[in-house]
Amino acid sequence: MAFVLLHFLSPGLCGRFDASPPPPDSRVIMHKKGEVVRYGVISDIHANLEALQAVTAACGKLAVDEYLCTGDIVGYNADPAACLKIIRSLPLAGAVKGNHDHRAVTRAGIDFFQSAAATSIEWTRSQLCRSSAKWLHRLPMSCIVGNITLVHASLHSPDQWYYICNYTDAMASLRLLNTNICFFGHSHVPLAFEKGDMLSGGLYRKIHIHPQRRYLINTGSVGQPRDGNNMAAFAIYDTARAEVELHRVPYDIRATQKKILRAGLPARNAKRLEYGK
Ligand SMILES: [Fe+2]
Repeated sequence: MAFVLLHFLSPGLCGRFDASPPPPDSRVIMHKKGEVVRYGVISDIHANLEALQAVTAACGKLAVDEYLCTGDIVGYNADPAACLKIIRSLPLAGAVKGNHDHRAVTRAGIDFFQSAAATSIEWTRSQLCRSSAKWLHRLPMSCIVGNITLVHASLHSPDQWYYICNYTDAMASLRLLNTNICFFGHSHVPLAFEKGDMLSGGLYRKIHIHPQRRYLINTGSVGQPRDGNNMAAFAIYDTARAEVELHRVPYDIRATQKKILRAGLPARNAKRLEYGK
């Protein structure tokens, strides 16, 4: 086994497969051949400023060269503008749009969002300046950076926001993966899948990347973890060591909760941060 597998999944939980091609706004950013980069991979920040600051501080100490972001910068929490300002100032090698980003800057309906998420999106729309809204709107649904693909939800239908949470879901995206690794987000749970001769997957701490295999890796959530661990999650992809390592950092949850309540956002958004759910 190439990575530390902490938990097996049962197949067939919530899979849907639609072999439509990636959307036309996919883009490719190529690094110079052989260039060694240490990436900080972040996802589902959800306007949590304290968590994002803790993660970028940790990435600084871990000598990150560039960042990859798999979407949902806004939504749920109280600092969308400040988080966007930080994200836009980072050396970003690639970033994609999440479902909350999409709905915050388009007229896309929010009817099927849970009420706490829908309320937060309405509020977020009122908080974004024109420049930030335009920047979010221009993010692609998927992109390729060297040997890495980024997508928020799934490769088989990036704009339908399906979850990848079991082998069936993973295979639907792996069939369309043309790079060594795909980083994704959306479920807020740090799950990974490896496809060689066999498909394996589960929770992970560290993954050695084999060049002949394909990987789907969720790096968990910076701003609203849902795996029972309330610390902010992110990963480092070290291209020289061919290794992806998950990291967790504590942050000032109380400060984030106070801001959520002060902004009049749903109390549930604040409470769940304590439990990592
Ligand atoms: Fe999210």
